[in-house]
Amino acid sequence: MQFQWYPGHMTKAKRQMQEDMKLIDLVIELVDARIPQSSRNPDIDELGKNKYRLILMNKADLSDEERNREWTEYFRERGCYVVCLDARSRAGMKQVTNVVMEACREKIERDRKRGIVNRPVRAMVVGIPNVGKSTFINSYAGKACAKTGNKPGVTRGKQWIRLNKNVELLDTPGILWPKFEDQTVGLRLALIGAIKDEILNIDELALALIKLLQKEYPGVLSDRYSTEEQPLREEEEPADVLRGIAENRKCISRGNEPDYGKAAALLIDEFRGGKLGKITLEQPQRGG
Ligand code: G4P
Repeated sequence: MQFQWYPGHMTKAKRQMQEDMKLIDLVIELVDARIPQSSRNPDIDELGKNKYRLILMNKADLSDEERNREWTEYFRERGCYVVCLDARSRAGMKQVTNVVMEACREKIERDRKRGIVNRPVRAMVVGIPNVGKSTFINSYAGKACAKTGNKPGVTRGKQWIRLNKNVELLDTPGILWPKFEDQTVGLRLALIGAIKDEILNIDELALALIKLLQKEYPGVLSDRYSTEEQPLREEEEPADVLRGIAENRKCISRGNEPDYGKAAALLIDEFRGGKLGKITLEQPQRGG
């Protein structure tokens, strides 16, 4: 399976982001907690150098808690603050503010020594499409926020959302495109739904998912897709497992044959919806 991307979009977005970077203290980067590495564009490390860095591992309601801890540790070792989050819920937002303040403590202290008080920290949200940027901004800003409008000296057209007396957020997130020379990265992005399904071969995707689950999460498929009459033998070849899923879920085509396409779509859909449990598709590579 070959995945394509569109560098034209990326160049424009990157230029915009370079401009926006000049206005902020802190980069809030959202990644998908199910693929914390593959859902990042590594260009952000260059774009955001000299800025404070906070990584939000979003959709953590769908990811493996043990892996969340490993990834948190991994990013912390690389100088980033990290929070695991479900951006749809407002519950974690207080923690985000606390960590924002912690990440920018040095700047706040420096300002204070110079007699500058009440200058809010300025932050910008970035991430690949569909990672939850708008959801996060909505939850974080909530109803109480006020747009501060244009201010003299600030690039015209920029809107800042005042979150509280300490933090202002640029209201438009920065979009980074996923980057992959490596096809496994493309595959993982496809599995979480970050690449349009129309350009994908859903059967191949399902087989790849089965293979991955067989290795990393044994028991998950048979738990979900066994029936009383027919236990799913998940250690079989991926195509046979898919046939088992088709039979057990009554995905049958006209000639009374298993409908692989339908079963594949069902499996991918249930995985994305968290029905197979909390699953993370990649582990941190140490020493890299
Ligand atoms: P973007 O701005 O980065 O492009 O992403 P956006 O906020 O539009 O979110 C993309 C999808 O991800 C939305 O689902 C959103 O509800 C979902 N989402 C965001 N954060 C989380 C999270 O922490 N956990 C889970 N499980 N889902 C999250 P959608 O299906 O496109 O829209 P909707 O059906 O929710 O309206």
